[in-house]
Amino acid sequence: MSFLHLDAITHVYFTKESAKVAISDLTFHIDEGEFVSLLGPSGCGKSTVLSLISGLQSPTSGTITLQNKAITAPTEQVGYMLQQDYLFPWKTIEENCLLGLKLTDQITTENKEKTLGFLEEMGLGDVKNAYPNQLSGGMRQRVALVRTLATQPDLLLLDEPFSALDYQTKLKLENLVSSILKTRKKTALLVTHDIGEAIAMSDRVILLSKRPGKLAKIFEIPEHLRELTPFEARNNPDFGNHFQSIWEELESHE
Ligand SMILES: Nc1ncnc2c1ncn2[C@@H]1O[C@H](COP(=O)(O)OP(=O)(O)OP(=O)(O)O)[C@@H](O)[C@H]1O
Ligand SMILES: [Mg+2]
Repeated sequence: MSFLHLDAITHVYFTKESAKVAISDLTFHIDEGEFVSLLGPSGCGKSTVLSLISGLQSPTSGTITLQNKAITAPTEQVGYMLQQDYLFPWKTIEENCLLGLKLTDQITTENKEKTLGFLEEMGLGDVKNAYPNQLSGGMRQRVALVRTLATQPDLLLLDEPFSALDYQTKLKLENLVSSILKTRKKTALLVTHDIGEAIAMSDRVILLSKRPGKLAKIFEIPEHLRELTPFEARNNPDFGNHFQSIWEELESHE
């Protein structure tokens, strides 16, 4: 059985007046250490998929298993980074990063040192005593990533972490995040609107059709692109062909 397995997931949002099917009969798996992107039109249910995997919501039908165990509630095995960074403005960068460890009662000297090491690695060592409003958007996203990695989750869920950033910052962060996750052999599922980002960062790209989100197609990114950094991959002559085929498939589902 794969590391993460979604089996025939359907999710319906019920309100007083209506029932809205957000996800319909979605099945896919992710292997350990894989980096997978989830791509699809706005409103097709990408964030819903992440929130179901995080255990914050339960699917209306179908099952989700992580390492052969059904996910029924949030677990420390899963780190979830949302599009907005949700840093606490009254806490310093260091305090924000240590928050997850505190809440899960794992605040040992060793864990604290590891987290401060992540901060250094992200180039944020000298702002650890600053407050979030003193940082740029890209810096705040890096802090949020350190906070997500601090509890050492086995699976990372990243919901459009780069979408609010300027292009140059986004390219730099793609490289940084990719190398950090690769060296730590983390498994990750990234939600993105950006076809280029999906190709540059992933081993596989899962394309969803418009709402209700169904599996449209899975694209395997070839080894020679996967070996490159995201920035190098974007500049590879082969990149354009993959972009074109995902673009065409996406267009056919809009
Ligand atoms: N809590 C909720 N209650 C009711 N409907 C919801 C809720 N959350 C999401 N939806 C609806 O479910 C559908 C899927 O939403 P979701 O946020 O998962 O899409 P998405 O693919 O992440 O979109 P985007 O790309 O714009 O972020 C949308 O039609 C949305 O309006
Ligand atoms: Mg979303």
